[in-house]
Amino acid sequence: MKRNYSNIKKAKYYLDNNECVAIPTETVYGLAGNAYSSNAVKKIFKLKKRPSFNPLIVHYSKVRDLQKDCEINQYFIKLYKKFCPGPLTFVLKLKKNSQISKYVTNKKKTLAVRFPKHSITRLLLKNLNYPLAAPSANLSTKVSAVEPKHINEDFGNKIKFILKGKKSKIGIESTIIDLTNKPKILRLGGLEIEKIEKEIKTKLHFKLNPKKISAPGQLKLHYSPGLPIKLNVKNANDNVAHILINKRKNDKKNFFYLSKKSDLKEAAKNLYSTLRKIKKDGYKRIAVEKIPKIGLGLSINDRLNRAAKFK
Ligand code: TXA
Ligand code: MG
Repeated sequence: MKRNYSNIKKAKYYLDNNECVAIPTETVYGLAGNAYSSNAVKKIFKLKKRPSFNPLIVHYSKVRDLQKDCEINQYFIKLYKKFCPGPLTFVLKLKKNSQISKYVTNKKKTLAVRFPKHSITRLLLKNLNYPLAAPSANLSTKVSAVEPKHINEDFGNKIKFILKGKKSKIGIESTIIDLTNKPKILRLGGLEIEKIEKEIKTKLHFKLNPKKISAPGQLKLHYSPGLPIKLNVKNANDNVAHILINKRKNDKKNFFYLSKKSDLKEAAKNLYSTLRKIKKDGYKRIAVEKIPKIGLGLSINDRLNRAAKFK
């Protein structure tokens, strides 16, 4: 932790001056700015080329600080105690006297909030007197970043500072649950919904492609490496990058393993770096082996389905 302290100070310096800084989290890297500063928040949207109607997630280290901005409820307390800090984002009612910039929420009366677990980012948050708005640190509609080098690929030197950590442990974005009414899943992600259901003793309903979009992250094309993707493919031609989750007898150059033993956690961790690598290697098409629709497999399928909307 000591080793990182000067970097945390540097990140704080930029953030205090309304600049954007990339931060490591256990899900994916974030592009962070002071959530109370419209100036800083506008810069995030501009850098990401993100449409202004797509609201940001705000990151806290303490519930006490969150309560300055949002109303909490019994479901929140239960889930917070069990899963936070961790890969779960809550949509809560925004308090009238909250200082959150209106650009964060696009004037919505709700706010998405998260308590990241990554130790560097927790330490950073503890040293700030404002929460951090941070979408994933990638260009809008593209593949998220799980390593510092991915951020350079997307933004070059446009970001003032990258607070570097290791490869994100979970590798896909947080699960989003709306608690402003009856609990509802808005985005599948790094926390399995089966675990959430067990904790709140409620069956959660979600539709991967609902007609009415309540979280703009449910937009159809997203997480795209910019290549056509075909799903549920058993055998692919040699010139097609074949993404696999089970070891095959004879390896081939175009095989890209997310896991060799159908381990869905490992597969989630490797998903985005593999999509980026395939693109870098010059492949023009991607095929993906069938991935089970349970646990994190649901989240991986969700990401790949959206990425497959690229034509
Ligand atoms: O794991 C994560 O959640 C990462 C790390 C950096 O924390 N962040 C992330 O942010 O994935 P982003 O901006 O890429 O995705 C945020 C999603 C978007 O789909 C957005 O539409 C949704 O959260 N969202 C934000 N505020 C919302 C709100 N008030 N109501 C419904 N959806 C909301
Ligand atoms: Mg994103």
